[in-house]
Amino acid sequence: MSLIQSLAQIVGAANVIAGDDAARVQKYTDELRRRYRSECAAVVLPGSADEVAAVVRCCAAAGTSIVPQGGNTGTMGGAVARAGQVIVNLARMNRVLEVDAVNDTMRVQAGVILADVQAAAEAAGRFFPLSLGAQGSCQIGGNLATNAGGINVLQYGNARDLALGLEVVLADGRIWRGLNSLRKNNTGYDLKNLFIGSEGTLGIITAAVLKLYPRPKMRVVCLLGVRAPEDALALLGRLRDATSDRLTTFELMANLAVQSAVRYVPGQSDPFAAQHDWYALVVADSSAEDDDALPRSVEAALARAMEEGVLQDAVIAGNERQARQLILLREDIVEAQKFEGGSIKHDVAVAVAKVPEFIARATTAMLEALPDARPYVYGHMGDGNMHLNLSQPAGGDTAAFLGEWKRVNDIVHAIACDMDGSFSAEHGVGIAKLEEMRRYKDAVELELCGRVKGMLDPGGVFNPGKVVESVLR
Ligand code: MLT
Ligand code: ZN
Repeated sequence: MSLIQSLAQIVGAANVIAGDDAARVQKYTDELRRRYRSECAAVVLPGSADEVAAVVRCCAAAGTSIVPQGGNTGTMGGAVARAGQVIVNLARMNRVLEVDAVNDTMRVQAGVILADVQAAAEAAGRFFPLSLGAQGSCQIGGNLATNAGGINVLQYGNARDLALGLEVVLADGRIWRGLNSLRKNNTGYDLKNLFIGSEGTLGIITAAVLKLYPRPKMRVVCLLGVRAPEDALALLGRLRDATSDRLTTFELMANLAVQSAVRYVPGQSDPFAAQHDWYALVVADSSAEDDDALPRSVEAALARAMEEGVLQDAVIAGNERQARQLILLREDIVEAQKFEGGSIKHDVAVAVAKVPEFIARATTAMLEALPDARPYVYGHMGDGNMHLNLSQPAGGDTAAFLGEWKRVNDIVHAIACDMDGSFSAEHGVGIAKLEEMRRYKDAVELELCGRVKGMLDPGGVFNPGKVVESVLR
């Protein structure tokens, strides 16, 4: 029996797509930014953890490796497959199993779309805070496998901080049923946190218990115009103090990024009369019904900052529609980048206090390398994670510019690491940053990671060549 026939016996013929069925596999093989393209023997869509386990046993017996895949929205190539590999996509495992509004937890299968997780929490009067651009198509299992970040990390943390328990299919086909929903459980090693962020190299996450929070009943959303990142940093501190640390979002955006969204995205407009060199999107929330103190303290802090020259101008959303529009302006920046031509991307982190210095150093260095290129900077300043991207020179040759990707990445990553930062803050390693792993990761840490991989997946069935494995060879 062929591998495809064996897989069809496990999940049903309708849930196995042969790798040469170009039209049907495209959704799983074409990656969001078209930087990588998968080839594969098949795409398998299991319907339960038991089916995932049987698929793993079947592939391991056939000597075929597996690429676990969620919504296929990752940008580092973590879900990209090579010829002969099997993509296991969790899309059919999309049930919310339980929402416990008293324990403030939610049990979900790994294939639930992030926006559906958020909606199910909301329907129960609770809040699930993970929020990112791809939330309409990424899956919670993928968010956990990559320890996704997004725009609410400042208040609620990364995906890792939002999970209490996991169910994981292991390389030998057993299932670790670790769906813990306790907030205190000091019984040995924390296996959950090994699988979270392992990008499918240690096991396949099939279900999770997530943390829920009180639903914000009111929020203050504002857009600030500032002269420099240093002023934005000062405002971040002032606003955290003024709101008793109720800031959920503090996003810094350069003029080019905001003006591109205004110019190119239909329905966008500039809320200010004049342009600013830098902008900050700020969100503070409260779960109290009538928390008048929150907007009053934000307004007072902004008025003081304006008097003192730290703030140039501010727009505070007067209603939910305006709030949504300001948040959309930040989200649209990512899409608008394409209209500026090719862009070389970064996802780096430094300590929050070092963000202005990092932006200055890295921008100078990028422009020394490519003087006519245009820094397209935005990111999650509140947690130190900046996307210090570089757009091609206006009217320049896109292919030639993109040919400089590695050189520019090397420059920026070297500066981030020199400042004790990270070359990958929230997008992961995948296949895109293996060289950086080799160059910048502590040798002892890398060796221990290699041993963990060797222990949990001795046959190399899960996502070979990603994250650490090939680095150690
Ligand atoms: C964002 O912060 O909008 C994304 O992480 C940017 C990206 O996908 O490059
Ligand atoms: Zn981001």
